[in-house]
Amino acid sequence: MTTIYNFSAGPAVLPKPVLLRAQAEMLDWHGSGMSVMEMSHRGQEFTGILEKTEADLRTLLSIPTNYKVLFLQGGAITENAMIPLNLLGGKTADYAITGGWSKRSVDDARAYGTINIVASTETDGYKHVPDYAGWKLNKDAAYLHICTNETMSGVEFAGEHDLELPQTNVPIVADMSSQILSRTIDVSKYGVIYAGAQKNIGPAGLCIVIVRDDLLGRANAQTPAVFNWKTQADNQSMINTPPTYSIYIAGLVFEWLIALGGVPAIEKINIAKANLLYDYIDSSDFYVNHVAIKNRSRMNIPFYLRDESHNEAFLKSANDAGLLQLKGHRAVGGMRASIYNAMPIEGVQALVNYMQKFASNH
Ligand SMILES: Cc1ncc(COP(=O)(O)O)c(C=O)c1O
Repeated sequence: MTTIYNFSAGPAVLPKPVLLRAQAEMLDWHGSGMSVMEMSHRGQEFTGILEKTEADLRTLLSIPTNYKVLFLQGGAITENAMIPLNLLGGKTADYAITGGWSKRSVDDARAYGTINIVASTETDGYKHVPDYAGWKLNKDAAYLHICTNETMSGVEFAGEHDLELPQTNVPIVADMSSQILSRTIDVSKYGVIYAGAQKNIGPAGLCIVIVRDDLLGRANAQTPAVFNWKTQADNQSMINTPPTYSIYIAGLVFEWLIALGGVPAIEKINIAKANLLYDYIDSSDFYVNHVAIKNRSRMNIPFYLRDESHNEAFLKSANDAGLLQLKGHRAVGGMRASIYNAMPIEGVQALVNYMQKFASNH
């Protein structure tokens, strides 16, 4: 049987051991006689799952004690409204546009107040993160919003080890949906980190928000209770029913990652995977990637066939070879290989082998 490798940008591949364990525990979780899907979110079984999941995430990211971790319904786009509702407090906010997702965050936030664009690469087609020296930061802004890895165009904030961030005194709010847990970060440099789950965390329907304590309690009076981070923090993310099964799978993913050696271990593997694919693309005159080298994403690698008339054939025979979901985002075109934590290096090698073969046949 052909080995299948799934390059979807999200919902995306999950670690096989996690899926097998979920399968084994599906009908009877730890002798409870219930599937996790069937448990009350307030019962001791699920409360235990949630507590362990949070503790493991705190370990993986070394989250300082003065940050709350929220497990919320809705994906990252829901946060586009929750961020200004919770943080604006009558001030203005700064946003950098470095790709389609940060642009979307701006469009959504404008309904709630004055949004200043401090930098934008929209006109150059999102190929880099502009030099921080040119950013028009406002020292009185309520926060600065960035998306540290743009999933569609494959643009990541630079930094060989920790991410390099703009110098600012205002809290940085970062959309890390397609980057979280892929590399070490210093959480204390951020006011808020948020991520939709369906890439490096688990199934869709869950959004994790990591928020510094002093930023809680600033919400606009009209903010519904479910959208109010402080209310959610005060109620262990249970002001409404949290996405229990997604949280359970996230917990299994965190256990898998800890057993692997944590974020530093997966980061090394991620660097090796990304180098393998970029090195091949750069060495070929058949394929091309347009992103500035220092901002090339380790997670989402878009590439184009120089002769795009072969696109359909490329995708069809990739599919036949077990290499799935390589089509680029509709806004960007071309191809995209998303190589999240759960993608083994063998999958990237299989893709490179296929690309070589396709290039020599065409
Ligand atoms: C960086 C980033 N932000 C936001 C989103 C939107 O997430 P959701 O569809 O879960 O709301 C995505 C989805 O792919 C994303 O990649």
